[in-house]
Amino acid sequence: MPSAAIVTHVVGARPNFMKAAPVIAALRGHAVTQRLVHTGQHYDALLSDVFFAELDLPAPDANLGVGSGTQAEQTAALLTGLEATFAADDPGLVVVYGDVNSTLAAALVAAKGGYPLAHVEAGLRSFDPTMPEETNRRVTDALADLALATSPEAVAHLAREGVAAEAIHLVGNPMIDSLVAARDRLDPEGERAAAGLPQRYAVATLHRPSNVDEPDQAARVAAALAEVGRRVPVLLPLHPRGRKALTDAGLDRAEGVRLVEPLGYVAFLSLVAGAALVITDSGGVQEETTILDVACLTLRDNTERPITLTHGTNRLVSPESLPPAADAILDGTASFPTRRPPLWDGHAGVRIAEVLAAAVS
Ligand code: UD1
Ligand code: UDP
Repeated sequence: MPSAAIVTHVVGARPNFMKAAPVIAALRGHAVTQRLVHTGQHYDALLSDVFFAELDLPAPDANLGVGSGTQAEQTAALLTGLEATFAADDPGLVVVYGDVNSTLAAALVAAKGGYPLAHVEAGLRSFDPTMPEETNRRVTDALADLALATSPEAVAHLAREGVAAEAIHLVGNPMIDSLVAARDRLDPEGERAAAGLPQRYAVATLHRPSNVDEPDQAARVAAALAEVGRRVPVLLPLHPRGRKALTDAGLDRAEGVRLVEPLGYVAFLSLVAGAALVITDSGGVQEETTILDVACLTLRDNTERPITLTHGTNRLVSPESLPPAADAILDGTASFPTRRPPLWDGHAGVRIAEVLAAAVS
């Protein structure tokens, strides 16, 4: 029988940490016992430890150390580790974040073990079945007892898929809570100077399999970034997934493109805040640039976050359309809507905590 007042949060990969931190902080004001399980999907200090310090996250109660592998290997290790952890902790509610493999595995183990499940960032859909994250989102949402949504279109997707109206809560975006909480610590000018960048520069991040797993596509992406780099210096904090393919494609030799290690949260957001433009395939970065009012070119055919297109600074580009789109931004001829997505106000964690606490009371 699950212990009603134990709430177990499961995190594992970089984007989970900024979503979980505000929820954990807000739940401290409620009469619940919280446990934090780190699956170890990400284990490099620059993809994991750095965020615990910067986001004021508590040390995990357990680290399952699952590490890397194929989709099946990693998911199998996650399932085995999480099953044992939930059996020992007996949570009254399992809370999962986003769309990574740790999210999917925790959802499966919770459902089969009879532990109620809450999904933060429910209902996002890219409608792109080639993305591992799309499978993770759909399965997690099908299993969740509580669906916490960041945007109205996510609510519509859940409703269309038959999720009961009382399970769905439009709560806003906890990733933006972390951004709002960090805003006073951002130092765009200091970080720019420390990085040796001129006043006008671009920041890029790349890690999607669709861009960096396959050598031909990595070469197209590298060529496009090199072309932008001839116009404005591009700083690229490189996720380990893209390192080999992008360096094999010659990006490390492209004048104007600087490859660096992944950055800490405050340093990264500081450089994004001061950038003339951002080039990315990250989910979270599309959202952060929308709130920071920094032009964002997303190297993807689709996005599960269309509200960043309709309300924010995001545009989808291909490797071929990236250089002219960057030129338009740098020339000042591109324009963007500047509406804020509803409830992206820094208080999503408080709203989520209220829903979770009510569920376990
Ligand atoms: C994962 C998520 C993706 C998310 C991204 C955030 C899945 C299916 N994908 O992708 O949705 O956008 O995290 O960053 O869950 N590696 C290291 N050090 C680490 C972790 C990974 O070097 O600490 C390398 C390994 O070679 C590994 C590769 O990166 O094989 C990929 O890691 P993995 O966790 O499988 O997926 P990501 O590409 O990081
Ligand atoms: N991020 C960071 N340092 C970096 C690159 C990204 O702190 O060098 C942060 C970024 O601000 C955002 C999060 O990592 O909050 C996004 O994670 P990622 O792009 O790895 O995953 P996705 O959002 O695509 O799932």
